[in-house]
Amino acid sequence: MQEERKILYSAVQPTNNLTIGNYIGAVSNWVNLQSQYDCVFAIANMHAITVRQNPAELRKNTLSLLALYIACGIDPQKCVLYLQSHVPAHAELAWVLNTFTYVGEMERMTQFKDKSAKHADNINMGLMDYPVLMAADILLYRADVVPVGVDQRQHLEITRDIAVRFNNIYSPTFTVPEGLYMKVGAKIGDLLEPSKKMSKSAENANGSVFLSDDRDTIIRKFRRAVTDSEACVKYDPENKPGVSNLLSIYSVFSGQSIEECERRFEGKGYGDFKLAVGEVVADKLAPIQTEQAKLLADKAYLDGVLKDGAERAARRANRTLSKVYKKIGFYQL
Ligand code: TRP
Repeated sequence: MQEERKILYSAVQPTNNLTIGNYIGAVSNWVNLQSQYDCVFAIANMHAITVRQNPAELRKNTLSLLALYIACGIDPQKCVLYLQSHVPAHAELAWVLNTFTYVGEMERMTQFKDKSAKHADNINMGLMDYPVLMAADILLYRADVVPVGVDQRQHLEITRDIAVRFNNIYSPTFTVPEGLYMKVGAKIGDLLEPSKKMSKSAENANGSVFLSDDRDTIIRKFRRAVTDSEACVKYDPENKPGVSNLLSIYSVFSGQSIEECERRFEGKGYGDFKLAVGEVVADKLAPIQTEQAKLLADKAYLDGVLKDGAERAARRANRTLSKVYKKIGFYQL
């Protein structure tokens, strides 16, 4: 039974704070997927350095993200949870895959173009190679499915292209992964500009609610969220993007359907509605934050999780890498 489960792979970069958008779109879904799939989750610190990082902060964010994963309900016993740089096979396979990837393909990637514009003083090779490293992540673990946001669709497509290309030149080696594009919460909007995705790195931090925000901050941010002049709590993303965004958030955090939420706020003003959204989010995050703090105080435990995760991940990754080395003609001892 255990062996028949499909393999699921995903990763998050340990940069900045996660927002409730990341929570809804990624981490909380992963928690639900754990029992269904054979899950492998990584903290992608090798991807993170494609833009300049402060070393002390990167180190701190790594543990903090690990503790957060566990606090949210990712069970290191049930899945493989590890840090990307602890498994050398990622860099090794990425190198091989580089020789099956065309420069033109990488130059056309939307995220590369966006990030090049944003970091014009540091358009490094790693930034351009980001998708190949991501392909290596996914292909090493023979992932069947990869849950990602729609912003990662192009990366998944190139992963599939590279896998198929390699398989066609040699013989079936890689599993060609399917994207699992999350519907709910896939696009939680910014509270101040709901048409934009809530981002870890938005210019105005008041539009994003972070998992690390305290209760007062959360309530204050929701109180300032933009709505409209209709005074009617209805789900209509076209015409009422602000209110619809808040309804989605309320729905996910309360576990009620959108219709149930609409009924609940029928006849209520936006003030009451926004306060209720803030409260439901704060109530849900409080125990997670407490648990995260508790875990962060136990560094030996977290180190143990990483050590165990790295060993289990490496074992799986090295099997694939060794197969690849054999096929391409690397002399093996
Ligand atoms: N690029 C992904 C993001 O920023 C993170 C990531 C790295 C990833 N490697 C991955 C996601 C492999 C899925 C699979 O969201």
